[in-house]
This record gives sequence, C-alpha cells and structure tokens, in this order.
Amino acid sequence: MDKLVIEGGKPLSGTIRIQGAKNAALPILAASILADGVVQLDNVPQLLDIEVMLQILRRLGCNAVQDGRTVTLDTTGTRSAHVPEDLMRQMRSSIFLMGPLLARFKEVHIYQPGGCAIGERKIDLHLRGLQALGAELEQCGGRVTCRAERLVGTDVHLDFPSVGATENIMMAAVLAEGTTVLTNAAREPEIVDLQNFLNQMGANIIGAGTDTITIEGVNQLIGKRYEIIPDRIVAGTLMIAAAATRGAVTLTNAHAGHLTSLIHILRRAGVQIATSDGIINVTCFGRPRAVERIVTSPYPAFPTDLQSQLMVMLSLCDGFSVMKETIFEGRFKHVEELARMGADIRVDLSTAFIKGVTRLYGATVEATDLRAGAALVIAGLAAQGRTVIEQVHHIDRGYDQIEHIFSRLGARIERYSPVSRLDFANG
Ligand code: UD1
Repeated sequence: MDKLVIEGGKPLSGTIRIQGAKNAALPILAASILADGVVQLDNVPQLLDIEVMLQILRRLGCNAVQDGRTVTLDTTGTRSAHVPEDLMRQMRSSIFLMGPLLARFKEVHIYQPGGCAIGERKIDLHLRGLQALGAELEQCGGRVTCRAERLVGTDVHLDFPSVGATENIMMAAVLAEGTTVLTNAAREPEIVDLQNFLNQMGANIIGAGTDTITIEGVNQLIGKRYEIIPDRIVAGTLMIAAAATRGAVTLTNAHAGHLTSLIHILRRAGVQIATSDGIINVTCFGRPRAVERIVTSPYPAFPTDLQSQLMVMLSLCDGFSVMKETIFEGRFKHVEELARMGADIRVDLSTAFIKGVTRLYGATVEATDLRAGAALVIAGLAAQGRTVIEQVHHIDRGYDQIEHIFSRLGARIERYSPVSRLDFANG
C-alpha cells in the first residue's frame, strides 16, 4: 500500500490548474451507453474511480480508450446489461449504469452497492424513480434486476434531492416515450453538466440546476465530443489547504460560481479571495478566525465533500467552530486521526465542536475514505514535522496524483510505493 510522507509547516504558494470533475465524468461515462456512434470526452481526470468505470464499460462490450485526459468510447458493441459484481462492489458510482442500460437493453442486472465508510448509501430513490417510468424490479439477495419493455415519461418526485438518483432518472428518461418531470431534483453543477452532455447529443432536457428538471423523450442520441467541467471539490480542497497553511494560491480552470458557500465561509474566517473568469486567488497571511456554525446540505449549501477538509482549517482557527453533517452519518472518521495530530475536536452524534489550536503536529495517520484522506493531507501540510498517511488508495479515487498537485505548490510531499521500491531493488 502506498504512503504519503509530508514535511509540513510550509505555506503553499503558486498557481495550479484544476482537474476535470470526477462526479461529472462518472455519470457522463455511463450516459455514453445511450449514444449511437463515438463519444469523445476531454478533461477526464486520471483516477481510480474512472479506471473502474472504464473497466466495467469494457466488460459490457464497449470499446473505451483512454489517452491522457481524453476518453473515446464506442458503445456499438455493448452486449451485456449485467454489471459485474466484483467491479460493482469496488465503486458505488457503478449504480449510474442502471438508467442507461435499462434504457438501451430494456433490462439491467446490478448488485446493491454495500455500505461504505461514510454511511449506508441506499438506492431506494433510484429504484423508485425507475419504477415510476415503468420498470419492474426483482431483488434477490444483493442482486437487483430491472426490466421495462417500454419506459414512459411521468412525474417523479424525489423525497430527498439525491444527486445519483436525479442523474439515473434523467438518463433513463431521455429515451423514454413522452415527458418526465422530476421534482425536488438535486441541483449540483455536475447535474447541469450531464444535461449539457445529453443535450449536445440530441436530448431535450431543461431545468438542471433547479429543483425541477423536464425531460422530453427523444428517439436517438448521437455521440459527440464534450469537455468535463472543473472539479469544484478539488478546487475547494486547494483553497482550504492554502488557508490552513497561510499561503497564497491561484487556481486556474476553476469555477468560483460553483463554490459560493465555501468562499463565503472562508471570507468570514478572514481569508482573502479574489475571483475572475476561471481564476480564484486565495491568500491567508494571519491565523484564520473560527466560524460559528457550518451545516452540510445539498447544493448550493456547503458540501459534505468539503466537510473534513474544512474541519482541518477550523481546528487551526482562533476560537470555537461548530460543524454539523447532515448528508452522511459516518463522515467524522478523520476526527480521530486529527486528534493524533493535536486537534481538539469533540463529536456529539452528527455535530463536531472544534476548539482551535495554535499548531498541529506531524503523526502517522490513516486515510479512511477519499475526503478524510484529503483532509489529512491538508493537516500534514499545515503541521509541524513529518506526517505519514497510510491507505492512500482512498485519496487516489478522487485526486489526480495529489502529491504532484501539492508539490507544484511548493509542498514537501512524496509518495512511497512498495511496488516502486521493489522495482528499484530489482534494478
Ligand atoms: C454524490 C457524490 C458524492 C457526494 C454526494 C452528496 C457522485 C459520484 N458522488 O453521491 O461525492 O458526497 O453526492 O453530495 O456524484 N440516499 C437515499 N436513497 C437513495 C439515494 C441516496 O437515502 O436512493 C441518501 C444517501 O444515503 C445520503 C443522501 O441521500 O444520505 C445523499 O446521497 P446522494 O445525493 O444520492 O449522493 P450520491 O449520489 O451517492
């Protein structure tokens, strides 16, 4: 297992371009199954989750070629609608294949994604949405089969604005007969990106980015070239890292409009932020101030995917902060690791009470999930001394070579991989 070793205490400084958004690329890769002809996607980040999605698409018979950050997909040869259990279990996002495969093959076989480190992660809203469009469900153990001779547009109301369910229902409805109106839809920018991609291929969807999405079914989608939006969570991670290390960082290919809640919080903490077209400048010279109360909620509120990273900055702020997590029940695993580094955080159910300390100290810690891992990297960069982060594969799911990202900003961070050491030993 790879480790990251960080010599902390150095303010980040420099300019960096933001990678394409994982959470936009994954559903868009799945949606490519709906297209006739060739789809070419640019700005696709090179990540473990993307690799797993491409492996699944290939196992289904699709021709998927990755050349740097461009992926070319020809789904003409796709034969199977049976998502392999081993790959399904590796990544919850394989659930995105349900809508497109059902629309294309009239049936789909998947496995319930198991619980994961951050919480239970049910799929009932996905299944209810597909049922409303006419699908019949059969569940046997962990296996779910969905069949529909015809998918017919209808009104679908989500009890909760689930990102994945919104996307799955959009993808199933795009080739359905008639009109689907999805209410209480999630409003995340990645949903707008999916709508733009589908519309570019000939779909007729309006409303993504609001809580009502209307999908007029069409007969066919034709593959096109499309560029994935920048990753707002990676951008947010870097902004928080700049603040926590009291540095000065410029992000390019960054969309400030996708980060308004974070920008508002950082400004309240005294961090200086300037934005212009595609650029975000973050400067923090003094000790940031505590922020009284932050609550994670669906977009456009503060995202759960930045909660653990922001907690690192708060743990170094002047004063007390409170962070309430409302999306996932198991998302405070980083707290125990941060405590090893000197943070003073008390957790009561879904609320963390953070008393700022003047310094964090390097320690050996474990990345328990993707965003908790990113938080530990920030903590290591801000801490005095050496931090060793284990279980780095979690971080590789969402950050395109995190050690390169931060070393370009002047950080002293290196990856140690047992394989490369072995290669070295073998000459
Ligand atoms: C997506 C993001 C993830 C982010 C999350 C919340 C991708 C690939 N992942 O995940 O990074 O943390 O949004 O912003 O885009 N729920 C149900 N039933 C369902 C579906 C969801 O109860 O059928 C619950 C979940 O358990 C969770 C909440 O709804 O508590 C939010 O989940 P959802 O918005 O669906 O997140 P994902 O799409 O899985």
